[in-house]
Amino acid sequence: TEGGTETAKRRAGERAAEEVEDGDVVGLGTGSTTAYAIEAIGEAVADGLEVQGIPTSFQSRQLALEAGIPLTTLDAVETVDLAIDGADQVVDADDPGAARGALIKGGGAAHAREKFVDAAAERFVVVADPSKLTDRLERSVPLEVLPDARPVVADRIREAGGEPSLREAERKDGPVVTDNGNLVLDCEFGPIDDPGTFASTLSSIPGVVEHGLFVDLADAAYVGSEDGLEVREY
Ligand code: A5P
Repeated sequence: TEGGTETAKRRAGERAAEEVEDGDVVGLGTGSTTAYAIEAIGEAVADGLEVQGIPTSFQSRQLALEAGIPLTTLDAVETVDLAIDGADQVVDADDPGAARGALIKGGGAAHAREKFVDAAAERFVVVADPSKLTDRLERSVPLEVLPDARPVVADRIREAGGEPSLREAERKDGPVVTDNGNLVLDCEFGPIDDPGTFASTLSSIPGVVEHGLFVDLADAAYVGSEDGLEVREY
């Protein structure tokens, strides 16, 4: 997504890649910020680091292959040591009531695979630039939806006070189709006060494969900027 500079994203990605230790299994997130981490892990692999990557999308699989990172699958490993992934928004408020570390993801329509890989990891590090930080989640929430269920899900979203819109593809006449063959509804709800409860509401809608709220999953955010990097532990 737009917003952060490439310098900021690169700093975040490269710093997260430094966390990877010899022998680790690493979840490889999706998006322009994580791409820098994948590139840096690839360089470390070329220098002799032993890792296995678990991609979260077609894009991250391609980048990992290009970077020379050996790949594996969740069913072939005992633990995922670390996941590195981007976000569209990160709650970074200091007040105790805030859902610190809650995320909106899915700007790249990859949130379903991202969520179960990120959730499987012992430690999940978000890589971001300062434009992603917020006191309250307020961007639209992407839902991956079974194609035939779209009208039913859209009705339920309106009942919940949201405004759903089908994500259209840019260079195709028609909708975005996810890596899993599903559609994406971007749902506008305005500010979300209680992401945990709201996440359960969205999960309970039949036909929703996965939504883009990530609550209680992120352990830290590495926030790169033009002139440095801040590590936020959640
Ligand atoms: C993919 O579906 C998303 O969840 C991305 O991880 C998120 O949009 C962050 O991408 P950028 O790093 O490109 O902003």
